[in-house]
This record gives sequence, structure tokens and C-alpha cells, in this order.
Amino acid sequence: MNFTAKLLSWYSDNKRELPFRGTKDPYLIWLSEIILQQTRVEQGTPYYEKFVAAYPTVKHLAAADEHSVLKLWQGLGYYSRARNLLSTARTIANDHDGVFPGSYADLVKLKGIGDYTAAAIASICFGLPYPVVDGNVLRFFSRHFGITDSIDHPETKRKIHGLLLDRIDRGNPGDFNQAMMEIGATVCTPANPKCFQCVFVKSCIAFKNKTTDKIPARNTKAPVQNRYIHYLVMTVSDQGKEFIFLNKRTGKDIWENLYDFPSLERPLKKNENQVPEHEFHALINPVVPKFLDVSGQYIHLLTHQKIHARFYRFHFEKKTDLPYTLVPLGEISEYPVPKLIERYLSRTILKTTY
Ligand code: ADE
Repeated sequence: MNFTAKLLSWYSDNKRELPFRGTKDPYLIWLSEIILQQTRVEQGTPYYEKFVAAYPTVKHLAAADEHSVLKLWQGLGYYSRARNLLSTARTIANDHDGVFPGSYADLVKLKGIGDYTAAAIASICFGLPYPVVDGNVLRFFSRHFGITDSIDHPETKRKIHGLLLDRIDRGNPGDFNQAMMEIGATVCTPANPKCFQCVFVKSCIAFKNKTTDKIPARNTKAPVQNRYIHYLVMTVSDQGKEFIFLNKRTGKDIWENLYDFPSLERPLKKNENQVPEHEFHALINPVVPKFLDVSGQYIHLLTHQKIHARFYRFHFEKKTDLPYTLVPLGEISEYPVPKLIERYLSRTILKTTY
């Protein structure tokens, strides 16, 4: 059996039952592939189900507001995926009458749809022979064929793309692509690949050479940047009700349009274990609330950053005007927040007797 036939036969016997397997609806495939970028299937599947329940068609999604979409996305990270999802749903609803374009060239024109997603939709939904090249595919393919060039070089990806084009099943490109991703995700895993269960063990060059831990080769990573953020968590009592100030992030960064708290950023000095209270006054001038306490350190890892966060609680005895969003404490869970803030909120009881 050649490589392609063996792969398809393995896939047919071993594929995981996933809620988007079996459909060719481009909206559902698009949604699942956007969710599964940089996300494991186990983590992404519940999000896929929540999105399909909330927005069963692209027109439902197009009619949603960004706040609700970000809220549903909360915890998945890489929030530009959610913003682009909404933007493209609106383009398809408004400019394409709710129908996805049926060619690769028109798919890649859409916001948030790159080579990978366009190839997935074109192959799975329209039977077009475009290979997908994601991390799982690169790992399995480069190990099997003993490709030792760094997969971070565009040239290596181009070469592997070309070799996949020679092997893709023209009668069933969608299953070929999904099978490549599936074997990479479940058998040819980054650490401890299951070589003895792999149907390709006899032809795998990395297995033969005992180099599965060296392939795929990567460029040396950019060093991680340490950031020290001090968040100001301000509650307010007003007429027997409790409120909290949230900060809507407007900057063009990964957390754009999510909510966090007003903050300042600097490393602690050697003799400090917290930032002195008066340094926050610039953020809340001219009113000065009562300082309550400071949390322990929270560590949050992003791709190129390690965030060291502390949360300083302050309380106002009466309603106060500040340039932040004042939210009733009971409604805080309706606001989309980064995972770091979600972790803090889930561990902290903000309502106390002051
Ligand atoms: N990862 C991302 N998309 C996938 C798919 N369609 N099948 C398996 N793993 C995936």
C-alpha cells in the first residue's frame, strides 16, 4: 500500500468522533478550524458546540455583537481569531448573501482565513486538492520522510507543501488532510510519539534513525519577556449595592476590547514586596479609596511573555466618577476578560464587609 492509501485506511479505522466530522457545511468547518488553530481538540470542541448552539448559521453569527462573541470565546486566547470570525461572518452575510465562496482564491481574501484555513475549507467542503500544512502535519511528515531542515523556515514549509501536493488524494482531499492532522495529533505527538502503534513505523526515517526527538527541527526561540503588572481592583458601595471598575482595553493588542483592571507596570525593587499605594494615585486622581489588600503573585504565560501579576484591592464608600466602566459586581461574568483576570476573579470573593 502506498503512503496515501495507508494513511486513509488508518484514518477510516482510527479517527476520533468529533462533532464537525461528517459535515461539509463551510460555515461549520470554518468555525471548527478557526477554533482549533493553536488549540487542542479536547479544549476546542466544547467551544465549537457553544458557538454552533448560539449561532447555528453564518447569518446568526453576523448579527451578533462583538461583546457576546468575545464572551463566548473567553478562555481560548488569541482573541483576534474571534474578532476576525465576526468580521468575516458579516462580510459573508452582507456581500455574499450568506454563502461561502467555493474557491481557494476567494477564501484567502477573507479576514482571518489564511493558507491553512482556506485549504481546510476548500478540501473538506469542496473536494479541492489543497494540502493543509499545520504543526501536526509538519511534524508527522518531516519525521516520516526524515526532513531535518527547520520547519520555521518558509522554504521548508514550501518544500513540504510541494511533497504533500504529490501525495494528496485527489478523490478525497478532505479526508487526506484530516488524516494527516489526526495522525500528528494522536500518534506522532511532539513528546513520546506512539511509534509502536504507528502504521508507518516501518517506513519512518526518524524512527529508524532514532531522531524523533530532533525532528521537526526548530529555530532557536525568541527569549521570553518578563512583565510585571499591578492591577487596581476597585469596588464601590452605592445605596447598598456593590460595583467594580473595569477597564476596557482599546489598544491594538491581543486583548483588544477585553476588560481588565486599571494597572501600572514595573518590576518590584529588591526591598519591595508590593508597589506603594501612592503610585496608584495617578490612575485615580483626585479621589483616593481605601486600600484593602494585595494578592499573591499570579503567573500567566503567553507565547513570548511571562506576566507576573498582582491585584491590589481598594474600596470606595460612595459612588465615584472615574474614567472606567462601572459594573455591578453580580454582572461581572457578562464581560469578556483575559484568562489571567478570569483566574483571579474565580479565586477571589470581592464582596466582603468592608
Ligand atoms: N486540528 C485542526 N483541525 C483538525 C481536524 N480537522 N482534524 C484533526 N485535527 C485537527
